Amino acid sequence: MSSDCKALQEKIIKLKKERKALILAHNYQIIEIQEIADYVGDSLQLARKSAESRGYDMIIFAGVRFMAEMAAVLSPTVPVYIPDPGALCPLAAYIDAESVRKKKEEYPDTPVVVYVNTTADTKTETDVICTSGSAVEVVESLGADTVLFGPDANLAEYVRRHTDVNIIDIDSRGRCYVHNMFDLSMLLELKEKYPDAVAIAHPECPIEVQEAADMVGSTGMMAKTVAESDAKMFIIATEMGMVHQLQKQHPDKTIIPLYEGAICRQMKKHTLEKILDVLENLPEANLVKVPEYSAPHIRGVLERMNKVKGQGPAKAVSAES
Ligand code: 13P
Ligand code: SF4
Repeated sequence: MSSDCKALQEKIIKLKKERKALILAHNYQIIEIQEIADYVGDSLQLARKSAESRGYDMIIFAGVRFMAEMAAVLSPTVPVYIPDPGALCPLAAYIDAESVRKKKEEYPDTPVVVYVNTTADTKTETDVICTSGSAVEVVESLGADTVLFGPDANLAEYVRRHTDVNIIDIDSRGRCYVHNMFDLSMLLELKEKYPDAVAIAHPECPIEVQEAADMVGSTGMMAKTVAESDAKMFIIATEMGMVHQLQKQHPDKTIIPLYEGAICRQMKKHTLEKILDVLENLPEANLVKVPEYSAPHIRGVLERMNKVKGQGPAKAVSAES
């Protein structure tokens, strides 16, 4: 790590204590951001952490905007800042409030589950939110025969294969461009080359990749599995930030990315410089706001999601590491 980077991290650590700031970082952030965060985790874990922000004066959320919006809803008295307000997840654009309403007209009395990567407006039309770490349990918690689901069609397929519930896509084209870079041939090639490696895929991967993997789960589940498994080699089918984190935390294990080009440009918009700017200047443009009319509904559907078990707690990281 360069001395400039270290100096920047030290400034952030000092200032975050003075400002009583809680820094939450998604697993896809660059390692340098993960190192100064209080918690690093998947979207479900970070949503839960943001609901426990008592004692802090501000939250800085290094993830895509919709995750930061969730934090703002779950922590209404603590201002939430996002280091780069332009960190938007393109998957969210596949469905909007209008397309959900239309689907509901087509399937009246059918509950709607939307993935957290949706706009606040889309969330106002849903019965409950889910993340990749909670999707199956959220769908089952409804006790319904049929559920409308979106926007990620690969995650929908994952849920379909793990429940008896009939899952109807709100838009069957919905895909994450990062996880859609993976294909079956890449995985088969690596499995042949490293026959002892355990392959773990994110449920946003194409279904053929999920099926050929040994395990499928959220980024939080990947962290837990690699930490607890006796295996020494893992093939990881998700964004590169996760791969770097796993390799750093487990130098005794070999972490092989399914594809090194799997980089989420939106997650990577955050930088240490932008985090420092938020701490120093509290820029209004970085304050995450959720429209008044939608916040109570979103809080309700998020709290409903938070009642299901999901895939485990976020891990605390040492700010001094
Ligand atoms: P996780 O909740 O598994 O971290 O997934 C979030 C995401 O955006 C994956 O692309
Ligand atoms: Fe969105 Fe995919 Fe990036 Fe996750 S990896 S934030 S789903 S674009």
